[in-house]
Amino acid sequence: MTQDFNIVVLPGDGIGIEVIDAALAVLEAVQARHGFRLKFDHRPGGAHHYRDTGDAFPAASMQASRRADAILFGAMGWPDIRYPDGTEIAPQLDLRFELDLYAGVRPIRAIPGLPLPLAAERAKDIDFVIVRESTEGWFHARGRSTMGTSAGGDEAVHDTGEITRKGCERLFDFSFRLARARRARNAAKGRVTCVDKSNVFLGMAFMNRIFHERAARNPDIRADHCYIDAYCLNLIRKPWDYDVCPMENQFGDITSDLGAGLICGMGYAPSADVGDHHAVFQPSHGSAPDIAGRGIANPTAAILSAAMMLDWLAERHARPALAQAARAIEGAVDLAFAQAKARPADVGGSDGTAAVARAVIGALA
Ligand code: NAI
Ligand code: MG
Repeated sequence: MTQDFNIVVLPGDGIGIEVIDAALAVLEAVQARHGFRLKFDHRPGGAHHYRDTGDAFPAASMQASRRADAILFGAMGWPDIRYPDGTEIAPQLDLRFELDLYAGVRPIRAIPGLPLPLAAERAKDIDFVIVRESTEGWFHARGRSTMGTSAGGDEAVHDTGEITRKGCERLFDFSFRLARARRARNAAKGRVTCVDKSNVFLGMAFMNRIFHERAARNPDIRADHCYIDAYCLNLIRKPWDYDVCPMENQFGDITSDLGAGLICGMGYAPSADVGDHHAVFQPSHGSAPDIAGRGIANPTAAILSAAMMLDWLAERHARPALAQAARAIEGAVDLAFAQAKARPADVGGSDGTAAVARAVIGALA
């Protein structure tokens, strides 16, 4: 069988390495059945690489990422390893800016059979997607902060955000396309909710205005709006109401973790950073130093991120077999948890990383 797609694999640090091994095992198991072949090109990068070599993300890793058909990423960063200015190593942020990955897609879906933290019966229906704008907003300030006042720099710091028309239009257009694709699979879906703080900030009022412009061009999709503070309330009270929720970069960063909390934690939250020409697929979590090296990290988020990668490749290259493989992976994850064949430590079970991967592979149709 020919090698269809070249995947750059960036395991990174800590449990990033462990969960990527599990995701690769699942990809190996589906590709033969669904008639395609991925070539995995492992590349270095991350905090430990920086400690060992002085380089957090080698130019060769960036070049390979740029040439790849898709990028599968574990996690990078380690709290004890820092740049001289005190900030952490975070090549995943550089990749987003470098490859212009403007849409951070974070599906929050309750997997059947999990002991969800919300007691409400409808919690089992939680199925929405946060779309985090990933190239501007308040993260625009990263590396651009201005220190201080006339007093000499220790009185204040100014972190300036940026919201652009281009950034908003492509974020919202992406969200409407995503809502349409989700409705094709589930007729109850097909709604986009713009989450902002347009009652206070001029940039957010601008963003909100552009949202309504783009909504007018997508009349087949329901469009509404929610302030970020009320949205946080609603994520606890009735998260099952939401579908696709685009928002500013930092709001998306924070609410993604809240969303993951609703579905039993970071181990269940996959993500994709998508641009017009490149995409990175990675679990939403970090390197988890508190559990790294013990083989107990939950690989479900990484496995579901690999399924998102197959969906993206399928659509881009008109290869429905890869989308079928993505559905097979999701189905196997659901079955493994519904039948309690997978019970990782984060829900009180004793299945390690490899055991969860084996349970998912065993549940493949
Ligand atoms: P984290 O996501 O690594 O961990 C937060 C908590 O969730 C920890 O208690 C951890 O044990 C748990 N957890 C995370 N993933 C899990 C999994 N798959 N299975 C079971 N439990 C899991 O976030 P934290 O601790 O704030 O950051 C640790 C390091 O990771 C830092 O250096 C940070 O900068 C980096 N980081 C990197 C990210 C990336 O590469 N995309 C994203 C977030 C953090
Ligand atoms: Mg975060």
